[in-house]
Amino acid sequence: KRQQHERIGQRILAETRAFGKLILFGEHFVVYKVPALVGAVAAYTDCECERLPGPGLVVVDNRPAVPDYKVTKAEEADAALRLVFDHFGLDLSKEGFKVTFGGDLCCASGIGASAAQVVSLARALSQTLKRPMSENAINAAGYEGEKGYHGTPSGIDNTAATFGGILKFQRTEGEPIFERKAIAKPMLIVYASTGITSSTTSVVGDVRAKKESDPSWFEALLQKYVALVQKAELALNAGDIAEVGLLMNENHKLCQQLTVSCPELDRLVDAARLAGATGAKMSGTGRGGLMLALTPTPEIQDAVADALKAAGAPQVWKTSFA
Ligand code: MEV
Repeated sequence: KRQQHERIGQRILAETRAFGKLILFGEHFVVYKVPALVGAVAAYTDCECERLPGPGLVVVDNRPAVPDYKVTKAEEADAALRLVFDHFGLDLSKEGFKVTFGGDLCCASGIGASAAQVVSLARALSQTLKRPMSENAINAAGYEGEKGYHGTPSGIDNTAATFGGILKFQRTEGEPIFERKAIAKPMLIVYASTGITSSTTSVVGDVRAKKESDPSWFEALLQKYVALVQKAELALNAGDIAEVGLLMNENHKLCQQLTVSCPELDRLVDAARLAGATGAKMSGTGRGGLMLALTPTPEIQDAVADALKAAGAPQVWKTSFA
């Protein structure tokens, strides 16, 4: 009987999974309603939700994380979770919940850990309240939560967290447009943390301020990016991984011009290329956070991971987009 209960519990928990993501093309530009390409990673966050006898919110956070991440993000995470409860019409001053987050996604800026957390919460609430929801409705609830992390989320992170796979994503005035990209064979990747937890709120806000103070500078960069992501999509469709890699290098240059890269990211990107990566770039918010490298073979994937550790990356992960 106990084993049967445990199995049911595991299945229910598995249904709350939400994935981490890595942006292949278009961080920051995507906020301004141009297309981006994103890949979900296999690692996920899950959430167990219980009703409490009294009001309030108890959060148990068992997610693995890089040092500093949870402390730095504590306030934003609390705001994000409460926004999801609000979205469900739940008043935490009247009813109470205990939520326990787990899974194998290691939280670091850039991996979409915040989005994975709010999407897994939305899935868990849908179960606990016995309110079946479509995947689009789960995604919409995740989007509300993402607003706790910054005012103008593009929605790319929660969409990747909800649907997984490789997606082409575009924010619009209304609902976002996105589609699954099929790839001919798995793409091996390495991603590494700079060890610096950055704030999406402040970096996105700073890019906006720069755009407003010099609109023509921003517009020129945006147009270069749009031409680049069109080529990237064609290369991905054609399975031309070498071209995808070269275009990732170009996207990194645009991130440098946008001032969202930093010396720590640049150093890791250079080290990955020297060790044989097909292409490498920062991924996500930047000014810390993560970088991503595309690697052609398992041997080169190992060599790039070693080179990144040698270049000072405190955490390095090997995985693939499938
Ligand atoms: C963060 O993962 C990606 C950004 O483009 C912000 C967003 O899209 O909401 C920096």
